[in-house]
Amino acid sequence: MKKPERIEELIDIAVRQLDYSYAPYSHFHVGAALLAKNGEIYTGCNIENAAYTPTICAERTAFFKAVSEGVREFDAICIVGGQNGVPTDSAGPCGVCRQVMMEFCDPEEFAIIVAVNQEKYEVYSLAELLPVGFGPSNLA
Ligand code: THU
Repeated sequence: MKKPERIEELIDIAVRQLDYSYAPYSHFHVGAALLAKNGEIYTGCNIENAAYTPTICAERTAFFKAVSEGVREFDAICIVGGQNGVPTDSAGPCGVCRQVMMEFCDPEEFAIIVAVNQEKYEVYSLAELLPVGFGPSNLA
């Protein structure tokens, strides 16, 4: 996977989202920055719930914000996460979020930046993190 454009900016924005995370149950804060093909960056954080299952991940918050504004084409997402809002290790996207990415992104082209900070990050394609994924083309 080639290095996506605006990677430093995406990491910076995802890290800043950690402050908005609402995670009173797990205390695991996640921030996301989603780069749309139109150049806009959509932000997201995880939002937990006392009933647990309504919890939404940072990545899906960002995707649903964008899609709800009519934006459906994306180049990359950056994800950071850590206990009490301090990222120490890579936090890859959960399976549900990978499936949501599959709905709107080209699996070979969409870049997933799993970051700890500006110096420490990995870049994967969606195809690498969701091989043989099921998507819209299967129903076409
Ligand atoms: N979480 C995310 O926001 N993104 C992921 O891809 C993995 C998990 C959140 C959900 C929950 O609020 C917390 O991290 C612990 O699972």
